[in-house]
Amino acid sequence: MNLFNLSDTTEVAKKILQRGEMVVLTGAGVSTESGIPDFRSPDGIWNKYDFTEFATIDALLRNPVKVFGFFKEFLGPLKSAAPNKAHKALARLEEVGLVKAVITQNIDNLHQKAGSKNVIELHGNALNARCMGCHKPYTLDDIENERYGFPPVCPDCKKLIKPDVVLFGERLPDAAIKTACQLSMDSKLMLVIGTSGTVAPASGLPHLAKKAGADIVEINVEPTIITKTTTDFFLQGKAGEIMSELCEKILNEISVG
Ligand code: OAD
Repeated sequence: MNLFNLSDTTEVAKKILQRGEMVVLTGAGVSTESGIPDFRSPDGIWNKYDFTEFATIDALLRNPVKVFGFFKEFLGPLKSAAPNKAHKALARLEEVGLVKAVITQNIDNLHQKAGSKNVIELHGNALNARCMGCHKPYTLDDIENERYGFPPVCPDCKKLIKPDVVLFGERLPDAAIKTACQLSMDSKLMLVIGTSGTVAPASGLPHLAKKAGADIVEINVEPTIITKTTTDFFLQGKAGEIMSELCEKILNEISVG
C-alpha cells in the first residue's frame, strides 16, 4: 500500500510541466547537504540546545552573553557555506520560468548564493544585523569580529546589535508573510522541501496552497505532518539528489519539446 503518496521524479516532472509554474517552500533540510545542521533531526540544533534558552527574544534580553555565544557558534559558519545541488536546481528552474518564487524559513542566504532571484525570507537573513534601538544596519561580520564589543552594542544609541533573524516570540516581517500567503494562494503547484512543518505560520502555507487548488509535492528524507495531511506527491530522499534528478528530467523534456 502507498501510505504517503510516494511518487517518482518522472511523474512529478510531468506534473510541474503541466502546471507550468510552481512556488517553493524550503526549510532547514534543503541546506543540510551544505553542511548546515537542521533543527529537529537527531543531530539537529534543538537537540543540542534548548531553544527556550537560546532562541527566544526573552532569552536574548535576559542573558545576551549566553545567546550571543550561541549566535557566534551557529551563525558564523553560515558565511562560508556553499549552495548544494538542491539550491542550484531551484535557481536553474527559476531561470527557465518554472519557479515563480522560493519562500524560505532559512536564514543562510544559500538560495541567493545559488542564483535564485525571487526569495522570500520568512525568518530573516543571518548575514545582516540591526541595532535594536535605532535600527542602524550592521553585519554578521561586525558581530563575529566583536567590532562593537561582546555582546555587540550600537555606538550611536548603546542598544544591542541583533542578527536580522526572527527569534521565538518575535513577529515575522509583515511584507514577507503577506507575500508568502498571496503566493501560496495563487500557486498551481507548491514544492515543499526539507521542512518538518512544525513551525507556524510557515507550516500553514502548504495547506493554504492546497485549499486554493494547488498540487503539493514534498521532498523529505522522511514523512512529516505535511505528508500525512496535505501532500499529493511525496518524493522520499535527499533534497540535493532528488532536485538534480528532477531538474534534469524537466530540462530534457523542455529541450525535446
Ligand atoms: P526542521 O529541523 O524542523 O526540519 C528539517 C526537515 O528536513 C526534517 O523533516 C528532516 O527530515 C528534513 N531533512 C533533513 N535533511 C534533509 C535532506 N538532505 N533532504 C531532505 N530533507 C531533509 O527545520 P525547519 O522545518 O526548517 O525557526 O524548522 C522550522 C523553523 O524552526 C526554523 O526556521 C527555525 C526553527 O526553530 C526559527 O528559528 C524562527
